[in-house]
Parts: sequence; C-alpha cells; structure tokens
Amino acid sequence: MAKRILSALLALVVMAAPAAAETTQEVIDKAPNGLALTPPMGWNSWNKFACNVTEQILRDTADAMVASGMREAGYQYVVVDDCWHGKRDANGFITADPQRFPSGMKAIADYVHSKGLKFGIYSDAGRLTCGGRPGSQGHEYQDALTYARWGVDYLKYDWCSTGDRNAKEAYALMADALRSTGRDIVFSMCEWGTAKPWLWAKNIGNLWRTTGDIFDGFANKHPQHDWAHPVLDIVDQNEPLWQYAGPGHWNDPDMLEVGNGGMSTTEYRSHFSLWAMMAAPLIAGNDIARMDEATRSILLNKDVIAVDQDKLGIQGRRVSKNGDQEVWVKPLSGGARAVLLFNRGKDAADVGVTWDQLGIPAKQRAKVRDLWAHRDLGTRAGSFNATVEPHGVVMLKVQP
Ligand code: GLA
Repeated sequence: MAKRILSALLALVVMAAPAAAETTQEVIDKAPNGLALTPPMGWNSWNKFACNVTEQILRDTADAMVASGMREAGYQYVVVDDCWHGKRDANGFITADPQRFPSGMKAIADYVHSKGLKFGIYSDAGRLTCGGRPGSQGHEYQDALTYARWGVDYLKYDWCSTGDRNAKEAYALMADALRSTGRDIVFSMCEWGTAKPWLWAKNIGNLWRTTGDIFDGFANKHPQHDWAHPVLDIVDQNEPLWQYAGPGHWNDPDMLEVGNGGMSTTEYRSHFSLWAMMAAPLIAGNDIARMDEATRSILLNKDVIAVDQDKLGIQGRRVSKNGDQEVWVKPLSGGARAVLLFNRGKDAADVGVTWDQLGIPAKQRAKVRDLWAHRDLGTRAGSFNATVEPHGVVMLKVQP
C-alpha cells in the first residue's frame, strides 16, 4: 500500500516537472520505436521502375501482392521510392507529382491499406533527393506530419545532396520527427554505410543500408558506375557486420533484384538465400504484377523466408571459406541452424558442413531438411555434404 502511494506521488512529481530540452544523445537513447522486430518485408519501386513509377503501378503491385500470395507469405510494405514528389506548396508542405500521382498519396495509402498492406514512402536528408526532387532538409517535422496524415507506415530516407551534414544528427532528427507524429513508422536509413551507422543507429533506424546500390548482376563489376555493386560484393561488405543486427535494427544490404532479368534462376536463388541467411530486409524489387513462375517460386519460398524471419533475429555468417566454396550458418530459435552451402565457382563442387561448425556434438543425430527441394532428408550425424551447382546454393535446416 505504502509502495503504491509512493509511486503515485513519484508519478505526480515527474508529471509536474518542467519538460527539459532533450539533447541529441537523449533522443537517441530512447527506446527504439518497437517496430521491425523481424526484418521488414515488402516491395519497393526503385529497382524495376526507378523514376517511371506511377500510382497505377503501386495499385497493380498491391493487387498482385495479394493475388500472388506474397502478402500471405509475409510481404507487407508497398514502398514508393524516389520521384513521387511534386513541388512544395506556399506553406512548404510537400505534394505529389500531379501527372504521375493524380489521386495524391493519401488515396494511394488508403488503397494499399484496403488490401491489408502497409504503405511506405521515400525522402532524403538533403535539399534534394538523388533523383533531384525536393528533400526534407529544413522540413523534417513538416514532412513527418504530412506522411502521418497520409497514413504512411514506412520511410526510406536517402543521403544525396547532404553536403557536410552530420549523418547521426540528420537521421536522429528525422527519427524524432517521425516519433513525434505518434504514428508507427518504420525508419529505413539509406546512408550507404558511409558513416558506419551500425555503430550508432540502433535506436535511430530500424534498418540501415550498409553498401552502395545493388544492381542486377551476380559477380561482375558494373561497367559504368562504381557506386553500383553486384550481389557478391554486397554480400562481402554486409557479412562482417553480423554482430550489429538484431530485432528492431537490421543491416540492409539493399533491395532484391530477383526477377529483374540480369541473373540466372540459380543466381537469384543464391541472392535470396544469402539475404535470408543475413537476416536482411526482404524488399522485392521486380514487377510482381508480371512475374514468371521461377521468380514467384523464389520470392514465395516459405522455408527460406522463415529463416530470414526467425524471431531470434541473429544475422548468419560465413563459418568457412575454401576458395569459391563457403559454408554459412544462422542460429534459429528452438536450437535449429540454417546452413548454406554456397559455391561461387564456375564448376559444380562438393561442399560440406561439419557438426563442429554448427556447435553440435559430432555424434548427435540431427534432422536435415533441404529448403529449396522442400524435402526432409532424414537424420544425420557428424557432417553433411552435397554437390552444389555453379553460382548455386544448397540451403538446409538442421535440427538437433
Ligand atoms: C539512391 C538509393 C537508391 C534509390 C535511389 C533513388 O541511389 O541508394 O536505393 O533510392 O537513390 O534515387
């Protein structure tokens, strides 16, 4: 009883105290927003449509996410990337491009919500976005308020035209602006890893890009742009950061290229598997209203999605590398491990994992399931080997 009175008194004192101004650090030290406890899943317009995105594409995509079974499989956010913007109005409020988005963003958000999905939008911490549209610098609270009014659930926040802005301050400011709206908005930081956000952004963003932009290629460098990276380069940059990821704050090795035509089905399967092993956000980047069966079967592999979405939220990592052959392990809830046997080489190769690499006693029998063949392979002890096709993977769940 006395305890209760004391805590009631304390609450009164706290409420009566004048609100002290918060320092940047105090804002950062607040609990994160409680969102994205597993890596965000959805779709983003950029990789396929770039600046040609329209409201019709967003509506068609939302429809297709339901019809294809993607919503059912966990894909949730429909995110419009750069180039949706019109001008700022006389009071500084951002508007939508009247030609491409004649209904306005609120109507599109409502449509996406009516499909049981969530709506995401894009802006930039500088004066201009990477596509040259108005950025949010100097309009942070006004833009956050606008997004909340429209019903936005996710903001991707880019880093072009930021001059000598300090990344931590710029992202903490927008995080605070989003928080101050009272709406749940996942905050996707797109700073390309320049200022190492994994070291400071845990309570600022729900995900942060760790690299420059992905392009639709597996191993070879981009012929023109050194800011664009093939899957293997991105993997090698993102893998060492495994210890910084966890529920609510994820390393983001960029959006998926699965289905965009630049890689083989085998390579797309590897790309998707590696993203799942790295607990990466699974943001499809293809034209899902028109995808073929091979693409659908990759994006909708529920066994692989379950690895990505495992509630422990541990980013998997490479435990061995022998030339072009690698073994990756991701601890899963319930004592299981996801295992990736990965062959970067141009020839088929035998790749094996030992129980030692999994932290399982050599004699202990464990159930093995092949997550691409969708087949239980019985119980094994000691090790497991398989022939892995060139640029391919064998992905397993090992349950002791
Ligand atoms: C940057 C980002 C991309 C995309 C484009 C849009 O390059 O890294 O993901 O958002 O801008 O212009």
